[in-house]
Amino acid sequence: MSALRLPYVYRVPLCVPFWNWRTYAALARCIGRGEIVGGSDVQRLEQRLAALFSTASSVACNSGRAALELALRANGVGAGDEVVVPTFCCASIISPILALGAMPVLCDVGEHLTLTPATIEAAVTSRTRGVVVAHLFGNPAPIDTIEEFCRRRGLILIDDAAQALGAKLNGRLLGTFGDAGIVSFGSGKVCFGVGGGVLVSRQGAVMERARAARFPRAEAAPTLKRAAGVTVWRRWRHWSLPLQIVLSRIGKPAQGASYQGRAMANLDAAVASSLLDTLDDNLAARRARVDAYRTLLGQGPGCSLLPHGEGSACLAQLVSFSGGEQVALAVVRALREAGYEVDRSYQPLHLQAAYDKYARGALPNADRLWPALVELPCEPTVRMEDAKRIAEVVRTTGHAG
Ligand SMILES: Cc1ncc(COP(=O)(O)O)c(C=O)c1O
Repeated sequence: MSALRLPYVYRVPLCVPFWNWRTYAALARCIGRGEIVGGSDVQRLEQRLAALFSTASSVACNSGRAALELALRANGVGAGDEVVVPTFCCASIISPILALGAMPVLCDVGEHLTLTPATIEAAVTSRTRGVVVAHLFGNPAPIDTIEEFCRRRGLILIDDAAQALGAKLNGRLLGTFGDAGIVSFGSGKVCFGVGGGVLVSRQGAVMERARAARFPRAEAAPTLKRAAGVTVWRRWRHWSLPLQIVLSRIGKPAQGASYQGRAMANLDAAVASSLLDTLDDNLAARRARVDAYRTLLGQGPGCSLLPHGEGSACLAQLVSFSGGEQVALAVVRALREAGYEVDRSYQPLHLQAAYDKYARGALPNADRLWPALVELPCEPTVRMEDAKRIAEVVRTTGHAG
């Protein structure tokens, strides 16, 4: 018997950040003391991340996109250069490249939906200057072999661990491969704070250039507005989503992939620090949810789970349906009707009108793989009983297809 449910009131809304009491204390302290932009939290966060990534220093910015722009700039990427990026990714990866006057080149992905040396090879030309490797869903791409490939070909490699804070490949933290790495505290990430991104590099010269090219100081009003927005619309999404739907119908502008690079604000850093305090619990909870999906769905007919590598941060669990797009759509519908706000995965960038000009030819793997995908939530805010119920709905609906 299905319970009566109000529209847009989900038992488990999409991507609710995992905050702790220190997060609210950090917000209250920074606002109460007027330390929105200035304060000692940015320096403390930079030191903390430098220690985590075993680098001499780090540079904190107001978004992962800004950190990516700085990483590329500090490695000498500029006008006319080509930078290879995965087509199966969020659009955020494009704007930092364009901001430098460089040209993104969309590249196909392998069976596990990440770049591989073979897919990169097909996208490289004499103008290629660098490659940005993203570890989507917290799952490590084969960046060790890509690092070797880039070294051989003289290409700059940026290790984009925006979605993979705390994940490791062969015991080595993602973000530390290649010439520079970034992490993000933005929307939907492992440590989803009120925004911010950090650049790390083990190369002293890169960090020196990054510090010299630092963005201007953050601004208080946009920082406060963003923090209030994340708290109300994301952290309290369970209650605020219906209102957000109403506002969107009366013309509230959608958030785009554009950004304005700034240094990280003190408020962002204080919140990010509070989330680092619970990073181990956060990762353990995510991995437990992936294990539960694997146990409950791993052997089932009709669907297959994207395997997470051993050190994955398990941001989300991708499931692919052998019945294709129609089944994936039916699963999303069934889960939403059951009170779980889930979505399909990324539509490859080369299939979107705004980005198709950055593709050079056919990208068949991404074309073939994406329509059948659905993302299952792994946030610690999703209770284990709900993960089990989600698996049950997926099994029944995915199977039926
Ligand atoms: C792979 C990847 N890189 C970079 C970014 C940009 O991070 P931010 O949202 O903090 O700007 C994102 C954000 O979604 C991302 O998924």
